[in-house]
Amino acid sequence: MSTYILMKILESAPSRYDLGIRLLTLGRLGKAYDRLTSLVKKGDRVLDLGSGTGALALRAAQKGAKVKGIDINPRMLETAQARVKAANLAQNIEFVEMGVVELDKEEAESFEVVMSGLCFSELTEDELRFTLKELRRILKPGGLLLIADEARPRTILKSLIISPLRMFLRIFVFILTQTTTRALKNLPEQVRTAGFDIVSSKLNRSETFLELVARKPGGREK
Ligand SMILES: C[S@@+](CC[C@H](N)C(=O)[O-])C[C@H]1O[C@@H](n2cnc3c(N)ncnc32)[C@H](O)[C@@H]1O
Repeated sequence: MSTYILMKILESAPSRYDLGIRLLTLGRLGKAYDRLTSLVKKGDRVLDLGSGTGALALRAAQKGAKVKGIDINPRMLETAQARVKAANLAQNIEFVEMGVVELDKEEAESFEVVMSGLCFSELTEDELRFTLKELRRILKPGGLLLIADEARPRTILKSLIISPLRMFLRIFVFILTQTTTRALKNLPEQVRTAGFDIVSSKLNRSETFLELVARKPGGREK
């Protein structure tokens, strides 16, 4: 019953997304985003993939970064714009309705940081491969790739235990974004294969959530 009520609240508008995600993750997602964006520096050019309502973009802009957030969902972007205006950060953030498949339009070596929260798990295998290849190109040498996303547990037992929760999360994301999620398997390996060095890769205890920091080789040390 409480799940039904939560869904009804969330269905009404993406502006409910932040409240919903806070409830669903018991505030842990926000802490993960704080940890990841602590690596962003003033003046960095930052790209936020699947920026949604702007949770990561706002954190980075508050640190003095110049942020470009891209997302395919115009309603999420509208909510993000309103939040940016309310936070008086419009001069630091630009939101663009754009999918990851259009990343090839971005200039080579134009960002110090690329970050993504809960978006990689909404991509198809092909999109994920393409995205990693393009991120390697558009990041400056030494630039950082910061990812927080759903992971697939490594053991069958853990997978079975969390499957009801995952189903709930899939419905939740579908209501908000009309897309579904695919918990990521071996993301650190895929990121390494795409030509990044893994700086840190941290799974939570149930192995359902991954925080990943990777670096494009060369240039800048953080
Ligand atoms: C679960 S939401 C997360 C939003 C935000 N990053 C956050 O953590 O609050 C995932 C977002 O990714 C966006 N998205 C999904 N597929 C995408 C794609 N191919 N290109 C760009 N954005 C995409 C969705 O529209 C949605 O806003």
